[in-house]
Amino acid sequence: MLKLAIFGSGTGSNAQAIIDAVESGMLDVEIKCILSDVAEAPILERARKHNIPALYFNCAPLKSKLDGAAEQKVLQILEEHDVDFIALAGFMRIIKDNFLNTYAGRIVNIHPSLLPSFPGLNSGKQAFDYGVKVTGCTVHYVDAGIDTGAIINQKCISIESSDTLESMMEKLHAQEHIAYPEALQWIAEGQIHYKESQDAAGTVR
Ligand code: GAR
Repeated sequence: MLKLAIFGSGTGSNAQAIIDAVESGMLDVEIKCILSDVAEAPILERARKHNIPALYFNCAPLKSKLDGAAEQKVLQILEEHDVDFIALAGFMRIIKDNFLNTYAGRIVNIHPSLLPSFPGLNSGKQAFDYGVKVTGCTVHYVDAGIDTGAIINQKCISIESSDTLESMMEKLHAQEHIAYPEALQWIAEGQIHYKESQDAAGTVR
């Protein structure tokens, strides 16, 4: 069984969807701990409510990376909690080489666009402002690039002329909450295999 850690910086609605899927028996993983670089992040409160260890780690506030002493601290926490797989869920820092090598092929992320369109920050707004008529979410392996890792699962939504950014994001989040537990279950069942070469064939289903 996958021994999962979830990393997040904010609301934690995707973490909640993963917790709910585990509790309802739809997702066969063990959530070992939930970590955040934001002390007051609601994601930590969600963990506490479900008796999951909720752990804050301090990063330099002005940096957007997980590196240096914070990276070491996180690696130590993961070892202490016997974690072997990591799901990023709204974690807003870049994971660097040392960490990626330690958990090679064992870190996944959810991104609020249909990658490779609109990588990076504020992807929902980027897509909405561009005027695309279809967008969605992507679950992908994490590699050294920004949102470039092999794609595991995608769900799409239509953007109607009556949609606002807010109503579009609501639809998008609802799809994220389906896509992430689904992707993790495929991995847990061994239906998905990570391959070193990062191209469109980087995952096999
Ligand atoms: C989600 O929409 C996720 O796709 C996005 O942050 C949100 C977190 O929401 N992630 C990124 O933008 C990563 N670049 P949540 O805290 O409610 O799960």
